[in-house]
Amino acid sequence: MKLHNKLIMLASAATLTFGAFTLPAYADEAPYTVTNGNELDADSYKGFKLYRNWCARCHGTYGQGMVGPNLADSLNVISKEEFFQTVENGKSGTIGSMPAWKANVKVMEGREKLYSYLKARADGAIGVEKPKKSKNK
Ligand code: HEC
Repeated sequence: MKLHNKLIMLASAATLTFGAFTLPAYADEAPYTVTNGNELDADSYKGFKLYRNWCARCHGTYGQGMVGPNLADSLNVISKEEFFQTVENGKSGTIGSMPAWKANVKVMEGREKLYSYLKARADGAIGVEKPKKSKNK
């Protein structure tokens, strides 16, 4: 077999392995950009503002946890789909009760942005500190 055919086979095997974990193609692409330590892209910064308005009173000012769990830790465990599900429908568990947000248009429309900010926290790209909005975009 020609070498490049073998390489193609290896490449498709790798794709299948990823397929088994249902990783989307963009899985390794961060949904945020952090520059100069604490400057977020415009969408993630909007996510922070939404977070501060609707989530911080239970999950801590920067997601570090309070009556609700530490979301920087959670987002390293739960999938994006689980995050969306929980935000939409709420969750009652061993820690307490998280309200459903499906009737809140701002939260529902801002879910991607909320996720981006919290993912930046989960990845340690931004710390337990007040983010700024990047001047670049
Ligand atoms: C009234 C308090 C409260 C508010 C406000 C709140 N939460 Fe929660 N949240 C909780 C509690 C308590 C839990 C834990 C439920 C359990 O599993 O016992 C939780 C759980 C979660 C989880 C699941 C974490 C995991 O590890 O499974 C996510 C994700 C989450 N909240 C996101 C949000 C977001 C985003 C917002 C803002 C839109 C928000 N929460 C607002 C109280 C709150």
